[in-house]
Parts: sequence; structure tokens; C-alpha cells
Amino acid sequence: MIMFLQPTQRTKFDESDDLLFYDFPRLVTHVDDHFIQQLTDLYRERLKPNSCIFDMMSSWISHLPDEMKFEYVEGHGMNDEELAHNPRLNHYFVQNLNQKQILPLPDRSFDAVLNTVSVQYLQFPEALFAEIYRILKPGGMAMISFSNRMFYQKAIQVWREASEDDRVNLVKSYFAAIPGFSDPEVIARPSTVPAFFQMLGISGGDPFYAVMAERVE
Ligand SMILES: C[S@@+](CC[C@H](N)C(=O)[O-])C[C@H]1O[C@@H](n2cnc3c(N)ncnc32)[C@H](O)[C@@H]1O
Repeated sequence: MIMFLQPTQRTKFDESDDLLFYDFPRLVTHVDDHFIQQLTDLYRERLKPNSCIFDMMSSWISHLPDEMKFEYVEGHGMNDEELAHNPRLNHYFVQNLNQKQILPLPDRSFDAVLNTVSVQYLQFPEALFAEIYRILKPGGMAMISFSNRMFYQKAIQVWREASEDDRVNLVKSYFAAIPGFSDPEVIARPSTVPAFFQMLGISGGDPFYAVMAERVE
């Protein structure tokens, strides 16, 4: 694993313990319905029925297609109450990944690892992507999705200051830091509304990005 982010790139405006920030439950959606629909459609297309899923950095909703059955869905997040509301999880755990990167999950045990609108909060993504690799079965897939929204004070500096294209490249570089991941596949659906209208609050919907790679060996 190559640790390539510089210390300043990992900094957040709010450096207090993330557990304080996530102490109260937020039973809200963090992206619009159109984003969620695209994500659910992608899961329907790519995830295998009866497979084992790890929903990393989750909350009260996993965006999985209602009609799909899985063998097992493990959840992880920062708020017990949010995770207890999530109807798709067979089991979950709370862990601050900026304090402890090792996941309490066995090697080669998941067919897919999902991370939705949260990768921007990881201060040690290289170590976490190594963990994602470790827990995936060979042939398993990591699916990292994001938009342009964030809790600004909790996102790392390199993400805050990047363009949307650069964020895609950043997530690609997280995969590239771990030998054994395939070349990532990217789905990029930026906003079609010109920047001027976006400044006026006419967004045309949340942009949708997914960066996905397989554990090949
Ligand atoms: C914007 S929410 C997204 C929740 C969920 N994935 C969704 O799609 O609605 C960001 C999530 O990132 C996770 N998170 C943020 N900081 C974290 C940290 N330091 N360690 C572990 N997880 C963290 C929490 O689970 C939090 O709910």
C-alpha cells in the first residue's frame, strides 16, 4: 500500500472527534431522489442475488433494491440509532474509521463493498481501501458512489478543494494504491445545468458518480 496523501490533504476544518458530530441520529437522505434511483438501479444491475454485502459508512437506508434478497448484509456507521433503523442490515457495528482503520471482518468474505456519499470523510483512505480489498472475495466488487454534497467541515482538504473530475481521479488513485484491484470503471453524470444557474440554486439534480473496481486476485 502506498500512503500518497500529504498530511495537510487529510485535514478537516472540524478536527473534533467525528463521533461527536454523528452523536445524534440523522434520519434524512443526503442526496436527492434521482441520485438514489440511479444508485439503486446500479445495484440492481451489478449486485448478485444471495450474495454477501458490506455497506460501509452506512446509516438508516442502504439504497438496495427492495426486491433483491441477499445472503447477508453487514453494516457499519457512526450512529447506533441510525443503523438500528436500517431494515437491510443483518448485523452492524459502529467504528470511527479515522481513528481505527482495521475492520472487524474476516478476509475474503464479501461479494461487494458499498460506500455511498461518504468517501470524502476518510482521512486514511489508503489503509481503508487495503481493508476493502482484504475483506472482498476474489471477483468481488467495491462500489464507491458520491455527488457534490458533503458536510464541508468534515470532508478532507484534498476533496474540498478538488473539482468533480479530480474527485473521480482521487477515488481511482485510492484503488490504484492497492495492488490486486482492477482498473476502476467510472460512471460520471455531472450536472447538465450551467454553473451560472447552479449559483442561482437551479441545480437540475445532484450529479452522480460511481467508481468501481474488482478484486482480481
Ligand atoms: C452523508 S452520510 C451517508 C450515509 C449513507 N451512506 C447514505 O447513503 O445515506 C455519511 C456517513 O459517513 C460515515 N462516517 C463519517 N465519518 C466517519 C468516520 N470518521 N468513521 C466512520 N464512518 C464515518 C457515517 O456512517 C455517516 O453516516
